[in-house]
Amino acid sequence: MIVRGAPAIGIAAAFGLALAAYRLAAAGPSSTEALLHELRAAAARLAATRPTAVNLSWALETSLGLLGDALGGAAAAARLEAIALAIWRDDVARCQAIGEHGAALIPDGATVLTHCNAGALATGGHGTALGVIRSAIAQGKRVRVVADETRPFLQGARLTAWELLRDGIDVTVIPDGAAAHLMARGQITCAIVGADRIAASADTANKIGTLGVALAAHAHGLPFLVAAPLSTVDLATARGGDVPIEERPPTEVAEIMGIRMTPPSTPVVNPAFDVTPARLITAIVTEAGVFRPPWTNFPEQIRSTGRKILTV
Ligand code: MRU
Repeated sequence: MIVRGAPAIGIAAAFGLALAAYRLAAAGPSSTEALLHELRAAAARLAATRPTAVNLSWALETSLGLLGDALGGAAAAARLEAIALAIWRDDVARCQAIGEHGAALIPDGATVLTHCNAGALATGGHGTALGVIRSAIAQGKRVRVVADETRPFLQGARLTAWELLRDGIDVTVIPDGAAAHLMARGQITCAIVGADRIAASADTANKIGTLGVALAAHAHGLPFLVAAPLSTVDLATARGGDVPIEERPPTEVAEIMGIRMTPPSTPVVNPAFDVTPARLITAIVTEAGVFRPPWTNFPEQIRSTGRKILTV
């Protein structure tokens, strides 16, 4: 949890692979075959650190795919570093394009509910969900943000609030349980969240609590928007139920600032992500444009974007 947020995890993994290559190069010469074997093992170790966010495996596969197989140790390390830098820059450009496309969905004077942190801190920069808000404000729209605190790790209270305040954006933190109440009172215009993995069905895995926001938005007739780069779309995952959900330590729930809140030995379950079914999603904003229901055509629409290939 030092590096968190799907795109930032992918970028960090690409740099991790470059570091592994530098370490292998420092250990002395080896055959190309042995080097590739070690790099694939390092990539597998990195991929196993977080199961839900697909950007992690996307970045590792992209790095290995662009590496080629004819490089010696030091040259391979330098190339992997260049690839990691390109993945980082590419993510910032993708977030800015997501912002441009998504800003059109945010009306002037909107109060936008967010969940977790899908901002500059979770990406290469600018952010996905918060990137849309930043771009809408840059276009001259007045936008207020209501940020779910996001129990149990408090990404909303700690990260979203921090980065929006730093940018001078109007942000108010609420307990997660207050979101539906504010919707019922007519105080929310729409909700926008990031994503950790979007399945071929358009079902979307994101921070635990996102499903509750989507259900509440649906019940109140409010738009529920997802903002994510195409690297978060995983057409190999057919539907949301196929997404592996990371379980986090019970202490995240049972303790607050190291102080136990639950009676000793109380069982705790701490799934870190949930899946919002496509039928609750109003639109998915990507760098290639905005996708909307019916979701039956979603895989074809994604394929037809041509998925930008990174050049290094
Ligand atoms: O557990 P985290 O903090 O890594 O989870 C992050 C989220 O769930 C984000 O909302 C998601 O990764 C989208 S990041 C743009």
